[in-house]
Amino acid sequence: MPSFLLHLLFLTILVSPSAVAQTDGTIDVNASLTATDNATPWLSPLGHFAFGFRQLEKSDLFLLSIWYHKIPDKTIVWYANGDNPAPGGSKVQLTADRGLVLTDPQGKVTLISNPILASVVYGKMMDNGNFVLANPNSETLWESYNHATDTILPSQTLGVGRPVLSSRLRENNFSRGRFQLNLVENGNLELVTVNLPGSHQNEPYFSDGMKSDSNSATYQLAFNRSAYYMYISGNNNQKFVLSQGELNLSSGLDFYHRATLNFDGVFTHYRHPKTTMGNESWSPLWSIPENICVQRSVSAGSGVCGYNRICRLGIDRRPVCECPRPFSLRDPDDDYRGCIPDFIQSCDEGQEPAENLYDIDTVTDINWPTSDYDMLQPYDDDQCKESCLHDCMCAVAIWGGDMCWKKKLPLSNGRVDNSSSSNGKAFIKRKKGNSSPSRKNQDTLIILVSVFLSSSVFINFVLLGVICLGFMLVYNSKLTRNRKGESGLERNLRCFTYKELLHATNGFKEELGRGSFGIVYKGVVEVGSSSPVAVKKLDRIQDGDNEFKTEVNVIGQTHHKNLVRLLGFCDEGIHRMLVYEFMSNGSLAGFLFGELKLSWDQRTQIAIEIARGLFYLHDECSNQIIHCDVKPQNILLDDYYNARISDFGLAKLLRMDQSETHTAIRGTKGYVAPEWFRNMPITVKADVYSFGVLLLEIICSRRNVDMEIGDDKAILTYWAYDCYLEGTIDALVEDDMDAISDQKKLQRFLMVAIWCIQEDPYLRPTMKKVLLMLEGIVEVTAPPSPSPFSTIRRN
Ligand SMILES: *[C@@H]1O[C@H](CO)[C@@H](O)[C@H](O)[C@H]1NC(C)=O
Ligand SMILES: *[C@@H]1O[C@H](CO)[C@@H](O)[C@H](O)[C@H]1NC(C)=O
Ligand SMILES: *[C@@H]1O[C@H](CO)[C@@H](O)[C@H](O)[C@H]1NC(C)=O
Ligand SMILES: *[C@@H]1O[C@H](CO)[C@@H](O)[C@H](O)[C@H]1NC(C)=O
Ligand SMILES: *[C@@H]1O[C@H](CO)[C@@H](O)[C@H](O)[C@H]1NC(C)=O
Ligand SMILES: *[C@@H]1O[C@H](CO)[C@@H](O)[C@H](O)[C@H]1NC(C)=O
Repeated sequence: MPSFLLHLLFLTILVSPSAVAQTDGTIDVNASLTATDNATPWLSPLGHFAFGFRQLEKSDLFLLSIWYHKIPDKTIVWYANGDNPAPGGSKVQLTADRGLVLTDPQGKVTLISNPILASVVYGKMMDNGNFVLANPNSETLWESYNHATDTILPSQTLGVGRPVLSSRLRENNFSRGRFQLNLVENGNLELVTVNLPGSHQNEPYFSDGMKSDSNSATYQLAFNRSAYYMYISGNNNQKFVLSQGELNLSSGLDFYHRATLNFDGVFTHYRHPKTTMGNESWSPLWSIPENICVQRSVSAGSGVCGYNRICRLGIDRRPVCECPRPFSLRDPDDDYRGCIPDFIQSCDEGQEPAENLYDIDTVTDINWPTSDYDMLQPYDDDQCKESCLHDCMCAVAIWGGDMCWKKKLPLSNGRVDNSSSSNGKAFIKRKKGNSSPSRKNQDTLIILVSVFLSSSVFINFVLLGVICLGFMLVYNSKLTRNRKGESGLERNLRCFTYKELLHATNGFKEELGRGSFGIVYKGVVEVGSSSPVAVKKLDRIQDGDNEFKTEVNVIGQTHHKNLVRLLGFCDEGIHRMLVYEFMSNGSLAGFLFGELKLSWDQRTQIAIEIARGLFYLHDECSNQIIHCDVKPQNILLDDYYNARISDFGLAKLLRMDQSETHTAIRGTKGYVAPEWFRNMPITVKADVYSFGVLLLEIICSRRNVDMEIGDDKAILTYWAYDCYLEGTIDALVEDDMDAISDQKKLQRFLMVAIWCIQEDPYLRPTMKKVLLMLEGIVEVTAPPSPSPFSTIRRN
């Protein structure tokens, strides 16, 4: 059975050497790791630490890093390429003459272990988290310990430097952040901010000022390896202990320790039990500064949480950021970019009185100490409140004692503060009612206002013109969007009763086809006039599946000329059916493998149309849809031989998730991407693979696997690549003279197909790129072999 054979082929690849585990932590010269999401890292002898690629969240990029391997959250303690994460398919190799070399798929080289080394004979991931490169005498040439990022580990020491540690940008973004830890020549430890993207250091927001006794001493920041305390060492065994570490070493419990300069500016010594039962996490033992929220000079402007925000100290001494009413988060995905006001105050004369327009909220214990523009004294709290209400510049007023501080936007360095004036109050202005304009309009307004305020009269005139034009365009695009929205509503799916469909199909009499989900029948329904439909009876959906309607709605919202349109559904008792428009010319399979052949022009046109449909499903519709079963049987042709993709969206409906076993692999063998057989997440790239196989079939008008054709031609994906390599591509289209005389396009389509069937999903192009390449808009580069030895990590 041909498809079975193919399955076997994949399995062979699956069990090939990729899973060679490291046991002694020693890495030989020429060993390499490839950035894929299932690559085996290089482990330390006891497996405490791992060195390798880690995929960044919500990204196709990889971080070359060292992490705790045995704990569930696999905390990263060192990274090499935070500012330039590596694209998938990148490779790091241990070389004899240059140490660790990172090469991206385009061939760009980064030397990780600079300066350039000679005579490296091995590398080693150690159980203390240090990665070392050694020469023939086992002397260390380079070690990750000497290139600390944001973390110091027990047994590590760091010399005087600015900085000795540098924070990352966000918890999951390893670009350089704005906080740094310095060890100064006089032995002081300092926390400073830098003004990104530059590296100028501001005044420290923390300085321990312990030892300025002698500038002649050489100081080091060190972390005791057995008792886990952190200290600064000077000459003559001087020790200035920073954190106490493990006080009871005989307790029998064993912990991992680390100290990290967090991305929010707090330097914390943490510990984590080595043996984990389930939900243990890192608990703080010590941290500086004591309260980051009240460090005035944390940053020149906004404070640790960003503008218009309030910083409150969490129990772990790290900041918790909040937006007070009437402010909302500027970027819902980023907690540290501040808040923006929900309304813009107008200073228009002759508008309604302020008390009709605004309310004042009274809050205690918060303050923005650096945003004053006016101070009034002596004022009682009511006077202060009234004064702010009637002042169109005033956003907030803080009152305490007999003083009233009026504050303007943007508010900076906001914090919860109950220390100073015991009965202090904050009055925050807010628009009455909830008639605030939508967030988008305000963003535009803010930009407009600030542009007007900051430019000359002439420029303002020019701008006015541009802005009017802009408004017209925006307005028009809104109209179109609204129209689309309406038509979406109009097209609301029709809900059919079982009886209606029974009648429409004449008792489910005329069968159109059978798929993996059930049988398709021909029918006729009255939608204005009577029109033919295809009714799909789903027999694999479990009873009471709440997701049915949701998913059907997602399918119903798609609208593209290369997709088969869903007209309605039936969800009644055990009956689950989908009603589609009827495609008169049947499936592409009939034309590719049957007697009646399509011309070369028709076939290339159809290939492009399928690519368009898939591009829409992947990138353009509101909910991304992975088809999971792209094959000629699921491409239907309408009256005019336009390709229309069918059965999209069903994968999710039928719970086609990858966690299932091999027997339940979705899709159809021969078309399914290799990652289905491996423990890899299924992405849109799985569809790209299937499309690649389909494209080959379209080019050659034959099945992917056909055992009746000679041995070396039986599997089209292999044969096609052979022909490509040998330059015998005409053989693929046999005596199709149209195709042969269209060499350029033939070559282009073939190359695109080979790109699509790359075993490594990261090498496959997106459908957008595929489309651009097929249409000849983007040049196609020479594809690599679809199944290289990329799975071998080390030899
Ligand atoms: C590493 O690869 C280079 C180039 O292929 C080769 O010359 C060298 O002998 C290899 N070294 C080891 C230790 O395998
Ligand atoms: C990290 O943040 C920087 C700056 O905002 C951004 O350019 C970069 O794309 C981010 N990296 C990732 C992996 O999200
Ligand atoms: C670490 O601390 C222990 C206990 O205080 C001490 O015996 C040991 O010498 C210290 N090790 C180093 C390298 O300072
Ligand atoms: C240390 O822990 C052990 C075991 O839990 C306990 O028996 C001992 O009393 C503790 N010692 C101190 C000084 O707390
Ligand atoms: C998780 O932690 C909580 C509190 O520390 C504890 O009560 C709970 O049993 C833990 N759950 C597991 C699965 O360990
Ligand atoms: C401030 O608030 C904290 C925590 O809510 C409380 O422990 C402290 O006593 C308060 N200080 C004053 C002066 O009210």
